[in-house]
Amino acid sequence: MAYRITLIPGDGIGPEVTAAARRVLEATGLDLEWEVRHAGADRIAETGRILPEDLIESCLDTGVVLKGPLTTPIGGGHGSINVALRRALDLFANYRPVRSLPGVKTRFEDVDLIVVRENSEGLYSGLEHEVVPGVIESQRVITRRASERILGFAFEQARRRGRKKVTAVHKANILKLSDGLFLDVARETAKRYPDIEYEESIVDATAMKLVLDPTRFDVLVMENLFGDIVSDLTAGLVGGLGMAPSANFSDDCAVFEAVHGSAPDIAGKGVANPTAVLFSGCLMLRHLGEAEAADRVRDAVRDVLLEGRHVTRDLGGEASTGEYVEAILRRL
Ligand code: NAI
Ligand code: MG
Repeated sequence: MAYRITLIPGDGIGPEVTAAARRVLEATGLDLEWEVRHAGADRIAETGRILPEDLIESCLDTGVVLKGPLTTPIGGGHGSINVALRRALDLFANYRPVRSLPGVKTRFEDVDLIVVRENSEGLYSGLEHEVVPGVIESQRVITRRASERILGFAFEQARRRGRKKVTAVHKANILKLSDGLFLDVARETAKRYPDIEYEESIVDATAMKLVLDPTRFDVLVMENLFGDIVSDLTAGLVGGLGMAPSANFSDDCAVFEAVHGSAPDIAGKGVANPTAVLFSGCLMLRHLGEAEAADRVRDAVRDVLLEGRHVTRDLGGEASTGEYVEAILRRL
C-alpha cells in the first residue's frame, strides 16, 4: 500500500535535512508517495499569503506531513509560518520524546521522557500592541478548552505508552489565574487516570531538576512557551537540537518536524545533523502503523552513532550530512 505524505522542505538547513530523511525513509522499502509543498519568505512574496493554499490543501488531504524548519524573522517581518500552520491545521498538541542514545556523549545515559507542549495559545499567539510609546503589552491567553485538550492528550499518551507519571509544569504561584486554571484542569484530568501518578512542578525549578536528574521525570505537560523552552533544554540532555524529533497532532492531521529551527549559521554547508528530522520521520512511520520499519531505521542510526566514525560535527565528528546518511543507508 502506498502512503501519501506531504513534504515541506522548509528553508535554511530544512531542504538538506528533509532530503536526507527522505532517502533513509525510502530505503526501508515502504511505498512512500511524497507531495512536495513549499512555504517561506519567497512564497509569501509570490502569493501574498503566509500559508500558500496548495500547501494547506495537501496537508488536509494527506493528513500526514513531514516538515523542515521555516525561518521567522526576529523583531519585524512576517509572522511565524510555523505558528500559522499549527493554527490552520488545529495542531493543538506537540509531542516531543527525549531519549538518550548509545554513542552520543552526554551528562546522562538513561534519559527517557516526553515533553507535551500546548500548541495553540499562550504567549506564542504573538498578540502584542504598543499601549503608548515605550510600553508594550503582550497577551497570554489560557483557556479551559485548550487546557482540557492538552491535558487529556498528555494523560492518554501516558496510558497508551505505559508511562507511570505525568508532571504538570506551571507558574501558578505568580500567574495565579491563568496557570491556576491550567492546574485545576490538570487535577480534574488526573482523577480520571488513577493508574498514572500525578505531580506538579514550577517551571523554573523544573529546569533545575531536569539538569540535575532528568531520570526523575516521565511525561511533562505544559503551556506553549514553557514547552518551547523546556524542550530545547531536554534536547540538550540527549545530544542537542540535531537529535530531537517532534510530532504535532490535531484530531485528524499529524505534522512531524524536528524541534530545531532553520540554523542559518550552518545552512548550505552540508554539515547539519539530519537525525532530528529522520527520527520525526520514524514517529511518522509509527503513526502510519509501520513500527517495524521505524525500528529498523532507529537501529541503523544507533549503529552508526555507536561506531562513531561517520557522525556530524555537532556530535563531535567530522562527517558531512551526506557521509552520515550513506553510513546509515549501508547499515539499513
Ligand atoms: P536553531 O534551532 O535553528 O539553531 C540553534 C543552534 O543549534 C544553532 O547553532 C544551530 O546551528 C544548531 N542546530 C540546530 N539544528 C541543528 C542540526 N540539525 N544540526 C546541527 N546543528 C543544529 O534555532 P535559532 O537559531 O534560534 O532559529 C533559527 C530560525 O529557525 C529562526 O528563524 C526561528 O524562528 C526558526 N525556528 C523554526 C522552527 C520550526 O520551523 N519549527 C523551530 C525553531 C526555530
Ligand atoms: Mg523552539
